[in-house]
Amino acid sequence: MNHDPAQPVVVARGLTKHFGDLHAVADVEFEIAPNECVGFLGPNGAGKTTLMRMIYSAIENTAGMLSVFGMTPMKQRKQINAHIGVVFQDNNLDDELFAAETLEAHALYCGLDHRTARRRIASLLAWMGLAAKAKSTIRSLSGGMVRRLMIARALLNSPTLLILDEPTTGLDPQVRHLIWALLRELKRRGMTILLTTHYMEEAQQLSDRVMIMDYGQIILSGAPNDLIENQLERYVLQASGLAEVPPIDGDIRHERASDADYFYSDAEQPLRELYEHLPTKYAVLRHANLEDVFLKFTGRGLNE
Ligand SMILES: Nc1ncnc2c1ncn2[C@@H]1O[C@H](COP(=O)(O)OP(=O)(O)OP(=O)(O)O)[C@@H](O)[C@H]1O
Ligand SMILES: [Mg+2]
Repeated sequence: MNHDPAQPVVVARGLTKHFGDLHAVADVEFEIAPNECVGFLGPNGAGKTTLMRMIYSAIENTAGMLSVFGMTPMKQRKQINAHIGVVFQDNNLDDELFAAETLEAHALYCGLDHRTARRRIASLLAWMGLAAKAKSTIRSLSGGMVRRLMIARALLNSPTLLILDEPTTGLDPQVRHLIWALLRELKRRGMTILLTTHYMEEAQQLSDRVMIMDYGQIILSGAPNDLIENQLERYVLQASGLAEVPPIDGDIRHERASDADYFYSDAEQPLRELYEHLPTKYAVLRHANLEDVFLKFTGRGLNE
């Protein structure tokens, strides 16, 4: 591939996807630089998977422009996808196959010669901690092992761009941390990574930039720490079980959402005083985080 390394890996301009009347992705604009890791956040149905699927040519955009490695998805699907690895949101593996067979089938699909395939499969299984499971059926693997196998499969063609659609949903904290370490290693090796997630900590740990989507649009984007610093007060006192809101001074902003109260301030002291006098034991005083930014912009109610 002769993609200029100084050029963005993905460019979207006015990118739109309609399903009938539904605007799943609506007029989205962004560029992804080489070696960047960008996290796409958004409530269920926000359009994250639809956006990823356009990038790897599973579906065609309705309007706008999309380029990947300077090429046009769908039209140049094969050339583009030779350099993309995808970890799908849903496990689409055949339960009856052995772990190694799953990778062999994909190696064949990628057009790898037999020797290269064998070498890469052995090294990826080892790297993912799955060497002992090569001859186990997918059915017999744990959720964490299946996900690691899906990542191994996505890496078989040594991609330049890795797309991970909710790579750690439903996994335990140990596996999640292991996968984060693997992804950080891939980033150090120069890979460009697009990731969708509902885990704010995951987005914060891995992403140079996050884009928050809602109803098909990107409503906010930036480096996680910049967003936290610029979009919110520094401290949050979160409390539940308050029968009524106590009197608060002018430096504190108050929000109520379902059964919880949130008090925000740039100064810790007034929140600490409030905290000490709150008539509930269900209260916590903490730094504002990415989840607070996410909820501020996408709302605290259900989107469905
Ligand atoms: N093939 C399709 N046909 C019709 N509607 C679709 C199709 N694919 C997605 N949609 C709709 O497009 C919208 C965006 O869906 P999408 O799967 O992209 O959301 P998402 O942000 O990935 O959500 P989640 O967090 O639940 O995975 C949803 O309303 C969904 O129902
Ligand atoms: Mg999705």
